[in-house]
Amino acid sequence: MQSNVLVIGASGGIASALLKQLNEDEHVHSLVSVSRSDVAPLSDKHQHHVFDSSSEAKVEAFVKEQKGKQRFTHVICCTGVLHSSGKLMLKPEKRLEDINAEQLSEYFRVNTIVPAIWVKHAVNIINKDKATIIVFSARVGSISENRLGGWYGYRASKAALNMIMKTAAVEYKRRSPNTALVCYHPGTVDTELSKPFQANVKPSKLFTPDFTVEQLIKHTLSLDPEDSPFYLDWEGKTINW
Ligand SMILES: NC(=O)c1ccc[n+]([C@@H]2O[C@H](COP(=O)([O-])OP(=O)(O)OC[C@H]3O[C@@H](n4cnc5c(N)ncnc54)[C@H](OP(=O)(O)O)[C@@H]3O)[C@@H](O)[C@H]2O)c1
Repeated sequence: MQSNVLVIGASGGIASALLKQLNEDEHVHSLVSVSRSDVAPLSDKHQHHVFDSSSEAKVEAFVKEQKGKQRFTHVICCTGVLHSSGKLMLKPEKRLEDINAEQLSEYFRVNTIVPAIWVKHAVNIINKDKATIIVFSARVGSISENRLGGWYGYRASKAALNMIMKTAAVEYKRRSPNTALVCYHPGTVDTELSKPFQANVKPSKLFTPDFTVEQLIKHTLSLDPEDSPFYLDWEGKTINW
């Protein structure tokens, strides 16, 4: 089956590898990407749009324009922050005293609200016969598996993202029952986001963006919407919410 894919947050480490692999995939008919930065189109089938998804008006305008053109079989939102965001230097909290309002709201803005706005509008541009909506979550967003503590803002913003997806899945079942919603944990991937935290990661557990994308494609693009929502790791194993 031919697919049309939308990738959001396209300039990131994982997203760049994703675009490259999807562009080379003969089953991908149309590839559309969105980023705050310019990204050179990889081929005739790839179209890139530059805008900041923090503006819902811009997301809405984009969706309106796409609606007249095509329906997407896969929508993949790759946005996320951990240790920096524009001019704001974020530092994952180690103790209660590190919690601060400005940092917390930035984690929620980028990690929860931006993907939530896309999930809201995606219902208007997905292929109603079969579609997948994937957001990058993280294992540390699991409430039931949190034994180590720390990273209050990142953990909480990913847990909140998971709840947005769980809640949206209930509504998608009614409005678009052939759509699978996925919260995905890619493992620790060698990108800007994980750079300051790689020292204690075994080399065999620090994945390349290319490997990460191979795993993502293998485990997420043909899930049964009947079992939606999914919270999966890079091995395709279910994570407890
Ligand atoms: N790398 C890892 O080890 C790891 C582990 C677990 C989960 N994840 C998750 O995987 C996803 C992709 O991560 P990555 O490793 O590819 O990170 P990355 O290279 O830092 O890319 C992050 C993306 O997030 C968007 N972004 C960053 N700051 C933003 C801001 N202030 N406002 C709006 N958008 C912003 C950017 O989109 P633009 O293209 O618009 O600039 C960028 O493409 C994230 O959700 C991350 O939490 C990563």
